[in-house]
This record gives sequence, structure tokens and C-alpha cells, in this order.
Amino acid sequence: MAHNARIVVAVSLILAVAIFSELAGVQSANGSMSTNTFDRFVDAEGNIKRPENMLGDPNWVHIGSWAVVNDGGEGNGLHNVYTTKDVVQAYRKTGEFPDGAMLVKQVLSAETDALTTGQAYWAGEPGVWFVMIKDRQNRFPGNALWGNGWGWALFEAANPAKQVATNFRTDCLGCHIPAQQSDWVYIQGYRALTQSD
Ligand code: HEC
Repeated sequence: MAHNARIVVAVSLILAVAIFSELAGVQSANGSMSTNTFDRFVDAEGNIKRPENMLGDPNWVHIGSWAVVNDGGEGNGLHNVYTTKDVVQAYRKTGEFPDGAMLVKQVLSAETDALTTGQAYWAGEPGVWFVMIKDRQNRFPGNALWGNGWGWALFEAANPAKQVATNFRTDCLGCHIPAQQSDWVYIQGYRALTQSD
């Protein structure tokens, strides 16, 4: 093979490898992207699966927390809310949740102690996970866990693989009415979607 031809072959190989890794990179970044969540977390009947290993997966980001601290301690806990990176980018750009956007609220027990800052609260053990998946195509009109533009699901720590909600209108919607104007999401808690600092 002529010297020049060899260089051409070598350069093409390098380019091919570069293009391939680029595509592979994009694909793995897409691994938990919203467009894929229906494939990964929803079956043909609309049954929703809980995303496992969310805290260990860099595609998932924490977008905000709620502290519920009532006198008497009833219902007290910390609520950490997560979504995927692509959803953060999309919401920041458009002010809307893209089709397939997944929101997970992990409800944890609150530990508390007088620390050097004051009475501090931090997350203990998970109790339940609430999940919402944006559905802009009304995919499951006959399924009682889909409606108002979302799929709705609930998982409990005792059996975290089992979805336990039965009807979003009775199990979820009543409590989300105050957030109706922001697509049923309590958007004021998620600075990562709306603020820069
Ligand atoms: C007792 C009232 C109540 C019920 C019942 C309830 N929610 Fe919520 N939910 C809230 C409130 C209030 C927030 C935000 C503040 C907080 O967590 O304290 C919230 C937040 C969420 C979030 C985080 C995103 C957001 O909307 O801010 C998800 C996801 C969620 N809920 C899903 C569900 C699902 C699914 C159900 C039904 C299985 C459900 N919720 C039932 C009151 C409720």
C-alpha cells in the first residue's frame, strides 16, 4: 500500500472511532432521557416502574427539598425531589415539562438534633417514593393512574418494586389542585428548574 493510502486509512480509522464514540456517548447520555422513559419505566399497559439507584446515577439530579415540620411531629419528614438532567435543561429553556419527563419525590424520615447551626433536620430513611411521568399523548386513556397530562405512581419502602396507587383522582389529584396552574407540580420548590443561584 502506498504511503499516502496508509495515511488515509489511518486517518479514516481515527475519524470512524471518534464518530462512533461520539454517537455512543450521546446514546448513553440519552440512557435516562425523557424520550426514553416510556421504554424504560412504563410497560404496554401503563404500569410504572420505580427508577432504582437514582442517587447513584449521575443522570438524575436533585431539584429541591421540602421540610415538613409540624408541631407534634405528625407527618414530619424531608421530601427530596429528583428529575433527569435533560428535563432540567428543557424546563429551563421552555418553562414546560417535556413528554416523558419524570419527577420522583422521595419521602424520608427527618432526623433532628441541636447542632452548632441551631436545631437541624436531615434525611433519615426512605419511606415512600411518589412518581409522575409527563404524558403529552394521552397514551393510556383507560388506565386510572394516567390523566391530566401525567402518569402517577407510588412505591413504599417495605416493597419498593411494587406500585401501590390505584387511582390518581382519589390517591393524588386532590392534594395537587393548588399546583394546577403549574401543570400540577409544586414548582415553587424547584429552584433548579427556575433560578440560577
Ligand atoms: C396529602 C396530599 C398529597 C397527596 C395525597 C399526594 N401529593 Fe404529591 N405532593 C403534595 C405536595 C404538597 C407536594 C409538594 C410539597 C411537599 O412535598 O411537601 C407534592 C409533590 C409531589 C411530587 C414532586 C413534584 C411536585 O408535584 O411538586 C410528586 C412527583 C408527587 N407529589 C406525586 C404524587 C403522586 C403520584 C400522588 C398519588 C399517588 C401524590 N403525589 C399524592 C401533596 C400530595
